[in-house]
Amino acid sequence: MALQLVTLDSISASERSERINSARLIFEETAPPLSSLSPDARQAFFQKYFGVYLATPESFYLAIEQGFVLGYLAGAPQTLPLHFSLNPYLEQFRTEIESHYPAHLHMNLTAAARGMGLGSRLIAEFMTDLGKRAPAPRGVHIVTSKDAENVRFYLKNGFGKAKEAGTLLLMGRDQHGSEDSTVPNQV
Ligand SMILES: CC(C)(COP(=O)(O)OP(=O)(O)OC[C@H]1O[C@@H](n2cnc3c(N)ncnc32)[C@H](O)[C@@H]1OP(=O)(O)O)[C@@H](O)C(=O)NCCC(=O)NCCS
Repeated sequence: MALQLVTLDSISASERSERINSARLIFEETAPPLSSLSPDARQAFFQKYFGVYLATPESFYLAIEQGFVLGYLAGAPQTLPLHFSLNPYLEQFRTEIESHYPAHLHMNLTAAARGMGLGSRLIAEFMTDLGKRAPAPRGVHIVTSKDAENVRFYLKNGFGKAKEAGTLLLMGRDQHGSEDSTVPNQV
């Protein structure tokens, strides 16, 4: 079967838990080594970058091919107080997030599915859906490391470097795909 991009709310409850488990395995595969963490710390890490996004299933995308989940995009149309409290490092970017890039996303693909355009398709899908909202959020951000390989991926997908703080890099894209020219490129 051809590749499908679906949101969690569009699949049956019985299928959903199986799909979430598959996506969770991809999350664990791509996360930094978690073995040194206590079970509680591991659960907190999972909750922060994956679990909280299950509460908005209409913005949680899965890429499925031949019955296998190849990757996911956990989207948030709005960066909420909950996200700020779970991720204190976001405070350094609060002004840019609140004024220009209120939406955000986390995404991961299983290793074998990378480099074939799937990540770009997931972003396009999320951006299209955001654009249909009323009101549509002005833009989307991600936070990565300044020297991460995925910076090139986001640049290719219309994100610009908005602000650096230590080793962290805030990247933002307006919902039409071009960099938001009203945010001075500080980096
Ligand atoms: C980053 C990621 C989502 C990109 O998705 P993808 O489907 O592999 O990317 P696409 O095929 O759509 O686009 C690939 C383009 O981005 C570039 N790129 C930059 N960094 C990359 C990376 N870490 N992995 C893959 N491609 C990367 C490639 O060079 C390619 O450009 P090209 O076509 O000019 O060669 C995916 O590779 C992934 O899950 N990586 C590991 C986890 C991760 O970094 N997640 C993001 C956390 S912020």
